[in-house]
Amino acid sequence: MIKGYTPNYKEVADNIGTAAYIFDADVLRDRLIMLKETLGQEIDICYAMKANPFIVKEAENHVDRYEVCSHGEFRICEKANIPMEKIVLSGVYKEAEDTKRIIDTYRDKILYTSESVNQFHLINERAEENGIVVDMILRITTGNQFGMNEEELCSIIADRSKFKGVNIVGIQHFSGTQRKNLKIYKEELDYCDDLIDKLYKEYGYKAEELEFGTGFFFDYFQPNSKKEVVDKVNGEANSRALDVELVKEFRKLLDEMRFKGKISLEIGRFIAAPCGRYYTSIVDKKFNGNIHFAIVDGGIHQLNYFGQMMGMKLPWYRQLKPNGEVYVDGDTIVNVSGSLCTINDNIVKQMPLTNPEIKDILEFRNAGAYSMTETPALFLSRDLPKVYIFDKENGLRLVRDRYEAFELNF
Ligand SMILES: Cc1ncc(COP(=O)(O)O)c(C=O)c1O
Repeated sequence: MIKGYTPNYKEVADNIGTAAYIFDADVLRDRLIMLKETLGQEIDICYAMKANPFIVKEAENHVDRYEVCSHGEFRICEKANIPMEKIVLSGVYKEAEDTKRIIDTYRDKILYTSESVNQFHLINERAEENGIVVDMILRITTGNQFGMNEEELCSIIADRSKFKGVNIVGIQHFSGTQRKNLKIYKEELDYCDDLIDKLYKEYGYKAEELEFGTGFFFDYFQPNSKKEVVDKVNGEANSRALDVELVKEFRKLLDEMRFKGKISLEIGRFIAAPCGRYYTSIVDKKFNGNIHFAIVDGGIHQLNYFGQMMGMKLPWYRQLKPNGEVYVDGDTIVNVSGSLCTINDNIVKQMPLTNPEIKDILEFRNAGAYSMTETPALFLSRDLPKVYIFDKENGLRLVRDRYEAFELNF
């Protein structure tokens, strides 16, 4: 596991600034190499770019595909010159005009998903109008608004020869994020096997591929220090070692499948989370009702740890002090609150810090997934943080400057 770029106080205070994200491309690539090696080269990795669109280019040589779920995400891929052959155009709502533009422009280079009967017809008709045949996978629902039900999916398969614009290559399945229960994985893969068998037996349709969203669990937090002795030096690395175990166990389940065609795994959080660090400065402190508060220039509109319950869990962090000292622990128990007008803006409650002072900088680790995209970023019209990409070869690059959000709110 690559340790990643760990700037000191001076670098953050003088050059980087807060609030800011740094995405470490070496850590990202190391992670993707680990995934490929553990899964086997024959399993395709499809990066669900919703987790972090800033790193699409850095991931390019190590992912087989990108799962693109909106026209905005598609525009990012265009801007980044991602090869269209790597794109899976997905999404529960595919705007008709945008989808038509994409089909007209990129024709049969892209793999399309269909999440509904209407989407299926939209894509098929436009492809027919263009006189082309596009590859498509049909998303089966897991009981929510995504995908289509089995009856609809089967009826499309039954009638497939009527649709001249699409070549149905297989099915797509995704049920949710932060999952590590192998029994549930097994049930879902069995279900996919059964569905694929049924399509063959009843309709003579042979699926060539399965695109499966794993929703792999990512452990963001330190063990509960009351119960367990927390190894502050190796603890985070131990969590990452467990990640490899999860992928290994999952791989065994793929081997047990009857389906022997191509498998592509859609993965977002598990790929992107460890490459990101978020920096925020303490800008005020107070003692209200016996609670020691440190107010920071960031907040929960910029940092998102899935499973964080009202700030009750402790992520991995470093406290950087102006004199160069660095702490990962301390005797002063502080609520670290952000700068939003809501009592919910607590990044961490009861965080152990060392003599916390205004100007101290807090580095929150594993902030590479969903923080930039899934948080209430525009609340209070606060500026969007700077975004940097780092790798050893090119150093630190600013890829988005601080952005004045008020422009978007008025
Ligand atoms: C269809 C689909 N695939 C993959 C993902 C990525 O999930 P995760 O970030 O848990 O890997 C999502 C997340 O919402 C999704 O909707």
